[in-house]
Amino acid sequence: MKKVYVTGGAGNLGKAVVPVLSSFYEVRATDLPEVDVRDAGAVMADIAAYNPDIVLHLASMTDVDRCELFPDEASLANRIGTRNVALACRETGAAMAYVSTGMIYNGCKRHPYIEYDKPDPISVYGRTKYEGELEIRSICERFYIFNTCWLFGGGKEDRKFVAKIMDLAEKGGELRIVDDKFGSPTWTADLAKCIATLMGQPETGRYHCVNAGQASRYELAKEIVRIAGIDGCRIIPVSSDNFDLPAPRPRMEAMADYNLRLMGLNIMRDWREALGEYITTTLI
Ligand SMILES: NC(=O)c1ccc[n+]([C@@H]2O[C@H](COP(=O)([O-])OP(=O)(O)OC[C@H]3O[C@@H](n4cnc5c(N)ncnc54)[C@H](OP(=O)(O)O)[C@@H]3O)[C@@H](O)[C@H]2O)c1
Repeated sequence: MKKVYVTGGAGNLGKAVVPVLSSFYEVRATDLPEVDVRDAGAVMADIAAYNPDIVLHLASMTDVDRCELFPDEASLANRIGTRNVALACRETGAAMAYVSTGMIYNGCKRHPYIEYDKPDPISVYGRTKYEGELEIRSICERFYIFNTCWLFGGGKEDRKFVAKIMDLAEKGGELRIVDDKFGSPTWTADLAKCIATLMGQPETGRYHCVNAGQASRYELAKEIVRIAGIDGCRIIPVSSDNFDLPAPRPRMEAMADYNLRLMGLNIMRDWREALGEYITTTLI
């Protein structure tokens, strides 16, 4: 059986992807504090000892506002951490799979980004994730870069957008949600299957891995409340100018899975269907 080594395995996506990969591969999943990807020696020693066929690198500083406030910390985790993993892949001959973001783009496009659009990040998080991509491209011979967006998942442990909106909506009243930023809401369970499928493909390179379609945060919140059947709460669309956050968010973060479709792998369903299954099977 082939072996996969996963960094950041205890995170939101790690919890969804490790069980899926375990059906096809022998898997070793690590996270802080066991293996810190910022520690080049520790990463090299642990990956070499396991000698995997593929490394799936999920470990990252993911709080975009914290990245903006502490850029050196973000660079160490997202760029240097990724470089350390890439060097270990080169040393052991493993292929590298990296989960990156739609925040590598500047957001000025009117339509969802495809894999052939030019990266031009506007935040520290986006820049350091893109620098991680460039490290991989310069170090690894065989690599997959999976760009994804606005992940939801986690079930009863969900503390992110979907669970927060449900909690707030159940309290009633008005919720003011941004309607001028657009993304591709993506269920970690669907992304996990997509990643497992692509890691078995010979064609390497960049893949946008997102549920189909696009939404504003406002549209996403309305759909959450509708699916959950919550009455007595009004969702009010507002401009992002109302919120003074440290990190700039691109206007357009949504992506299209152009390369998956080129390969005839139309496996990512519409985000509304995925969200419906997520909420009805795990949250209510
Ligand atoms: N969530 C999204 O919407 C989204 C969108 C696009 C791309 N992504 C990418 O998808 C990947 C997974 O994201 P996620 O949502 O699962 O994030 P997450 O829940 O924050 O998981 C990341 C994991 O990496 C760990 N980690 C952080 N720094 C580390 C280090 N130096 N060494 C080892 N482990 C470290 C974290 O541990 P601690 O919790 O202890 O810090 C956490 O368990 C990330 O690469 C992220 O950039 C996420």
